[in-house]
Amino acid sequence: MTRLSPGDTIGILGGGQLARMLALAAAPLGLRCHIYAPEGDNPAFQVAAAHTVAAYEDAAALARFAGAVQAITYEFENVPAAAAAQLAALAPLRPGATALAVTQDRLTEKRFIHAEGLATAPFVPVESLADLRAGLDRLGVPAILKTRRFGYDGKGQVLIGSAAEAEAAFAAIGAAPAILEGMVRFSRELSVLIARGLDGETACFAICENEHRHHILHRTTAPARIQPALVTDAERLAARLATALDYVGVLAVELFLAHADHGEAELVVNELAPRVHNSGHWTIEACHSSQFEQHIRAVAGWPLGNPAMRCASASMINLIGDEVSQWPALLAEPGAALHLYGKAETRPGRKMGHVTRLQNGH
Ligand SMILES: Nc1ncnc2c1ncn2[C@@H]1O[C@H](COP(=O)(O)OP(=O)(O)O)[C@@H](O)[C@H]1O
Ligand SMILES: [Mg+2]
Repeated sequence: MTRLSPGDTIGILGGGQLARMLALAAAPLGLRCHIYAPEGDNPAFQVAAAHTVAAYEDAAALARFAGAVQAITYEFENVPAAAAAQLAALAPLRPGATALAVTQDRLTEKRFIHAEGLATAPFVPVESLADLRAGLDRLGVPAILKTRRFGYDGKGQVLIGSAAEAEAAFAAIGAAPAILEGMVRFSRELSVLIARGLDGETACFAICENEHRHHILHRTTAPARIQPALVTDAERLAARLATALDYVGVLAVELFLAHADHGEAELVVNELAPRVHNSGHWTIEACHSSQFEQHIRAVAGWPLGNPAMRCASASMINLIGDEVSQWPALLAEPGAALHLYGKAETRPGRKMGHVTRLQNGH
């Protein structure tokens, strides 16, 4: 079990804002980052010690990259399995290939969550239009059809309001292997970010509450306004999932606060992300160790830091597309922590930056 030394280099697959914030968190700990991404001009390249521009299918480039770093991690879950297997044989890959395999596929992920005894939306696998029709019969409408792989920010999903929409919905997702999910009636969306170290220690951040707009995260506030018993439940289920995956790093667990017919609140697991997560950006200013620092510490094989908050509460708002033009006003606002990701081009729906505000900070 390799533990890194100060001056060592962590390889990161993917060059977006998550990799950028990981590299920024590695620097104070004396660790370097080497970013591997398939196209040039990435936000993370601007702040990392080294970068490689090559495809995830380029075995020679992957081998050179693995030879230049002491541990490897990633900022996205769609790392091709072949690349993950090759890299894992050459350097410690943290989190490991199992975490990737489970979370890359919504069906595998849901089955894994069930096997751990936790609740998910009701679901059926869909390989054909006939499966979809049978699934709609069983789960009823409305229901959501989601591709098993490559979905994010609501992409690869269709809401089905009536059985008559089945054919169009299946066509809309390109007749790809999918799952059909029954709708969960929830009052809030929550997430729990947990760090797990190489020796199995875990540390949870405060549970946070997420609001989406147009399927993209808009605002996260922490701590979530939920009963203490639910906080304990959320922490337990996150630790259970992380341990079952033999996980090293930060794991994000998206939850629904659902209400059964008899009115009792219940946590239902929506999805997992084997990486740092947009709903944890507030931890940079609000916690003693941020999600990025925790992930770097875990990947390095170092002890975890303290995830406790330094303030009463925090909120983070994403700057999507043109919203980034508000930056001069945000910069002038006392106490607002502005983050701009260094993306050259503003596009609708693109995450350009975020702003965090603390309440009763000290
Ligand atoms: N089964 C469900 N019941 C109710 N709402 C859902 C369900 N699945 C997804 N949603 C809504 O759609 C959003 C995006 O779905 P999610 O599975 O998290 O995909 P993505 O990968 O796009 O984040 C969720 O945050 C939630 O608001
Ligand atoms: Mg989601």
